[in-house]
Amino acid sequence: MRNEVIRYSKEINSRIIIIDNDNKVKVDSREEFIGDTFKHEEVQKALKGNSAANIYNYKEYGRLMYTSVPIILNSKIIGAALISTSIDNIYSRVEDIENALYIISFISTLFIALISFILANIFSKPIKKFTNAIMNMAKGNLNQRVDIDTNDEFSQLASAFNIMSTKLDQVDIQRKDFVANVSHELRTPLSSIKLLSESLLHQDNAGVEIYREFLTDIDSEIDRLNNIIDDLLTLVDLDKERLNLNYKVTYVNYLLEKIITRLKPIADKKNISISYKAEEKLQINLDKDKIQQSIINIVHNAIKYTPNGGNVEVKLHSDGKNVVIEISDDGIGIPNKDLEHIFERFYRVDKARTRNTGGTGLGLSIAYQIVTLHQGKIEVESEVDKGTTFYIKLPIDTNMV
Ligand SMILES: Nc1ncnc2c1ncn2[C@@H]1O[C@H](COP(=O)(O)OP(=O)(O)O)[C@@H](O)[C@H]1O
Ligand SMILES: [Mg+2]
Repeated sequence: MRNEVIRYSKEINSRIIIIDNDNKVKVDSREEFIGDTFKHEEVQKALKGNSAANIYNYKEYGRLMYTSVPIILNSKIIGAALISTSIDNIYSRVEDIENALYIISFISTLFIALISFILANIFSKPIKKFTNAIMNMAKGNLNQRVDIDTNDEFSQLASAFNIMSTKLDQVDIQRKDFVANVSHELRTPLSSIKLLSESLLHQDNAGVEIYREFLTDIDSEIDRLNNIIDDLLTLVDLDKERLNLNYKVTYVNYLLEKIITRLKPIADKKNISISYKAEEKLQINLDKDKIQQSIINIVHNAIKYTPNGGNVEVKLHSDGKNVVIEISDDGIGIPNKDLEHIFERFYRVDKARTRNTGGTGLGLSIAYQIVTLHQGKIEVESEVDKGTTFYIKLPIDTNMV
């Protein structure tokens, strides 16, 4: 029995102690307590027929688990077996697992924090940039740029946004310039009228002749105001009617003849000869009233900016793709540096001189806009003191609907 207990205790790596009914140790696998009295709680329970198990933590031995079972022979309890097993290694395993869990949860917390930081950067940073830019635009600062240098949809959105804000900014600058120009242009004749009428009012006993002279000046300033307002209204109409041209198949020859008949008296006043040559009869689809207005503006300019006794020629031909209306004069010409600006609203090469001729500075921009609406082009060649030639090119094909 003793040997068997020792062998078995080795097998299960535990100490086995057998105790008899009188609490006396009979067998101890380590042979240390033989003959001692054991009154452990587990032993008492086992001797009463119940098995028991408890864990103790001893300073010298570490954690031990005591398990006891009654030894029964012929239905009688004859003793108890107490098995003491060291469970320190189990505890250390559990501790290891616990530590590993701590480390894993620490690392995953770090990892989650890192991922959320990266995601926050990817998504919220650009959105913040957009929000700031949009809020600034809402405050009226339209020149906003969003710089995103990642290579994804956000950077595509940013470049689209930047194109939009630049366009809006340009339009806004143009609008402000236009309003400033309009106010200035309207104020000039108004202040002349005010000045003229005030000086009349302050003159005692002014003769009828003086009145007539001043009123003639006032009348011509009012004409100027009317011209500016008419031109402005035309521009407003052109903006509104963008795609609403009243196309009709029209002979350009008749149109030109009509325009020349209309402007001849003005040319005659300056002793300017105005000639017309057409190589062929050409008809295209156009908005007659509008094209007529743009040609009048250009022919009128040719007369205005040509000294007395000069020549204005109007020619019509086709270059295969376009109907070309050529208007040339031997007048004052346009300096090279001004050529690229003459189609801008209110642009005049010589402000003082054009004031005398009653120009508004809007004629060419109206002409340009009308021809552009017809998918056409206006080109200009000029030499100072030699003369100027304007080419109005209206497409033949695209117009024929
Ligand atoms: N045939 C031309 N010869 C010389 N200068 C011209 C001619 N046509 C236009 N210009 C210049 O272009 C400017 C713009 O023309 P336009 O828009 O018709 O305004 P304006 O009302 O002054 O005639 C004119 O002020 C003038 O300086
Ligand atoms: Mg003009």
